[in-house]
Amino acid sequence: MLKVARIKLTILYSILFLFMFWAFSIGLYFWVNNSFGESYTAQVKEQQQVGEFEGEFADKEKIFIAIAGDIAMVQLRNTLLILNGGLLIIIPALAMILTRKTLTPVQQIYEQQKQFVSDVSHELRTPLSIMSGEMEIALKKNRTTSEYIQVITSSRQELNNLTNLVENLLFLTRIDQGKSFLQSEKVDLTDVINNVIAILQEKYKKKKITLKFKPADESITISGQISMLRQLFFNIIDNAIIYTPENGKIDIALSTNMNNIIVKVTDNGIGIAPQDQKKIFERFYRADLSRSQVKGYGLGLAICQSIVSLYNGSINISSHLGKGTTVTVCLPKSGKKS
Ligand SMILES: Nc1ncnc2c1ncn2[C@@H]1O[C@H](COP(=O)(O)OP(=O)(O)OP(=O)(O)O)[C@@H](O)[C@H]1O
Ligand SMILES: [Mg+2]
Repeated sequence: MLKVARIKLTILYSILFLFMFWAFSIGLYFWVNNSFGESYTAQVKEQQQVGEFEGEFADKEKIFIAIAGDIAMVQLRNTLLILNGGLLIIIPALAMILTRKTLTPVQQIYEQQKQFVSDVSHELRTPLSIMSGEMEIALKKNRTTSEYIQVITSSRQELNNLTNLVENLLFLTRIDQGKSFLQSEKVDLTDVINNVIAILQEKYKKKKITLKFKPADESITISGQISMLRQLFFNIIDNAIIYTPENGKIDIALSTNMNNIIVKVTDNGIGIAPQDQKKIFERFYRADLSRSQVKGYGLGLAICQSIVSLYNGSINISSHLGKGTTVTVCLPKSGKKS
């Protein structure tokens, strides 16, 4: 599809530029011709024939001008012909370069979309084939009630994962489309973070992780959508819990400076390798280490990035493999873009 677009655009650019240069050359030729060229020399010759110019010197000078004019016009015509002939080769080459430059961002988006569709299909296929396989085995012969319960429980777990994946994808799509699907309101960030910690309490306590939250001295509110802000901090704190081994430590700090609200989540978990740090905000990207240890889709941080960009803010990671990770979110005090 893009190959056809590339050929069409190259032809279009070539025709356009050649037309421009040719029109310019023809215009230039006729203008010079009218002003100093053949028409002028013809005039001179005519005047000379009717004897308008008196004296030897005047005649010679006029003849010289007439001949020089003729020669100059022939030279100009030849130069323009050679130049425009050369342009027949140069312009298509330039058009190809220009087309490549024009289409590179389109190609990148196209490749990303293709990769996205293939990642989604892959993520959907795995739980679906697990469910289908388990059900087929269960139906091959009569089973006990507990065996049926086991299959149904496992299928329900896979269905929950699928629902989670689809919800995350929908969330990302809505943000991509720039749909502000909820009204902005004043949100207390201390409350949001406390709420997220409460939801995740069971999870970090099970791993005997010590989690500390240091709120700011004053209450910090931001204009935004509570569900999005909850999702943002949930994804970050959830990661900190998941990627920190048992008996680990997580520190959360909320503070402000002149213009921004800053939230730092620091853990002493497995850390992220430098080559992965650049990629973890990409959709479906997971570091190999995490892939082998815990289940996930690689969408959490991509969602955080999209939410933060809605607020004109930033999210940064600093991490040392085997030592821990700090995620810093910076949101302008003014809140969400309208
Ligand atoms: N605190 C952290 N410590 C170590 N690695 C992390 C941390 N946070 C993120 N990562 C790495 O970044 C990757 C991407 O994180 P992200 O939250 O986007 O996806 P995920 O946790 O793998 O899956 P999910 O979609 O369920 O959130 C993770 O797979 C992990 O490799
Ligand atoms: Mg995650």
